Amino acid sequence: MSLFRKKTLNSLLAQAADSEKSLKRTLGPGNLIALGIGAIIGAGLFVRTAAAAGGHAGAAVTVSFIVAAIGCAFAGLCYAEFASMIPIAGSAYTYAYATMGELVAWIIGWALVLEYALGAATVSIAWSEFLNKLFDNRIPYEWCHSPFEKLLDANGVMHHGILNAPSLFILLVLSLLLIKGTQESAVVNSIIVIIKVSIVLLFIALGWQYINPANHHPYMIPANAKPAILPNGNEYTYTNFFRHGWGGVLRGAAIVFFAFIGFDAVSTAAQEARNPKKDMPIGILGSLVICTILYVLFSWVLTGVAPYTDFVRAGKEASVAYAIETYMTNYHWLAKWVTVGILAGFSSVILVMLLGQSRVFYSMSNDGLLPKVFSDLHPKFRTPYKSNGLLFLFVGAIATLLPGDITGDLTSIGTLLAFALVCVGIIIMRKADPDHPRPFRTPLVPLVPILGALLCLAMIISLDNTTILVALAWMAIGLMIYFSYSKKHSKIQS
Ligand code: ALA
Repeated sequence: MSLFRKKTLNSLLAQAADSEKSLKRTLGPGNLIALGIGAIIGAGLFVRTAAAAGGHAGAAVTVSFIVAAIGCAFAGLCYAEFASMIPIAGSAYTYAYATMGELVAWIIGWALVLEYALGAATVSIAWSEFLNKLFDNRIPYEWCHSPFEKLLDANGVMHHGILNAPSLFILLVLSLLLIKGTQESAVVNSIIVIIKVSIVLLFIALGWQYINPANHHPYMIPANAKPAILPNGNEYTYTNFFRHGWGGVLRGAAIVFFAFIGFDAVSTAAQEARNPKKDMPIGILGSLVICTILYVLFSWVLTGVAPYTDFVRAGKEASVAYAIETYMTNYHWLAKWVTVGILAGFSSVILVMLLGQSRVFYSMSNDGLLPKVFSDLHPKFRTPYKSNGLLFLFVGAIATLLPGDITGDLTSIGTLLAFALVCVGIIIMRKADPDHPRPFRTPLVPLVPILGALLCLAMIISLDNTTILVALAWMAIGLMIYFSYSKKHSKIQS
């Protein structure tokens, strides 16, 4: 039964009490919501929205956001029960270790690499797009795109990507910052949150008058929609089931799901919350509700200002700046400021993701499931510097060599899998440990967790086969590592 050996809740809580000595409980519900929004708004909204609209959902990407938000809310309610029960700095990995045993915890931890590491890579690729936009596309195409991308320019010349240098640059800077242990202070985080939310509100308010009602008709992409033209000059058709109508909306939801990733980051701050039992659920769900409202309004305006077919070609990159420059004729000057703000916003998301990844590896390494190198601390800075360094090499290689669409979809799939397992975890926990105090209870169990898991699975299935195959291969590699290394080195004795 050693595959299913578990950490007991009491040992987790003792661990929490231990580390509590070093962490101050200073965060209230407002700070937690700000933390959530700081981690949430990023490339998902400013880049993936356009990809989902252009390729699959059209103007109905607003509906995709609602579908993705419902999936997140169900998973979020389950997360909230765990976070209030096990108020320690953790994540789905820690929760799973206590509920479903080591093997599932490993699977979740391994899926979280897709969430955090590939998420960081995706946002760094988006960062590169906006930087290029800031420089009026003066960075040569070859040096800010992956070798899998090409562009047929207006003169009929084909450009091939070589590597994405700006994304490597931002990852390097932020990894060094993490190694030095510069914690993003609450003040810096609040400023970035204010900038991001202001950009979103400004775009909604100013863009509203530029909405062309024709762009919202038909609201969903029809099956017989005219093909759009890809950057490489090829046609992009909409006949596939997941490229029009409700199928397209579902696929769009899986894509924009990326925009919600991070709200679970609030749970990692449980040890610093003043009243975790009450404030964690408020922080998690509050940030989710606020973001959903902003996302729906934002995507309504974006798809109203520019026709969705624009987002297949010219407007595919740095779509917000593109829409402002191309259609909001009186506000060209705004595009530059928005771009600077977005670059700052992306940096904070990348930082949170790299940090989250190194924390998960740190826990897994402390539990013996990964080699000690992932939990070795720097003698002076007390940060897991070797882990940060290795992570930089891994994330950097992905960000320089792969296109953002691929890394974005892989991030979504990894997170959706982790969320589905968290939903299942609640049902198991209610049966296995019914008497443990639950300051926050997920409503309507088992309905909410079942619907949450099903919705996450539906979004996974809607992603394209290559993404699903790559994710399966990733999980297979993970299982090989588990059975050849982790199982033998686990510190929990069966
Ligand atoms: N939700 C984060 C973003 O959209 C990951 O960038």
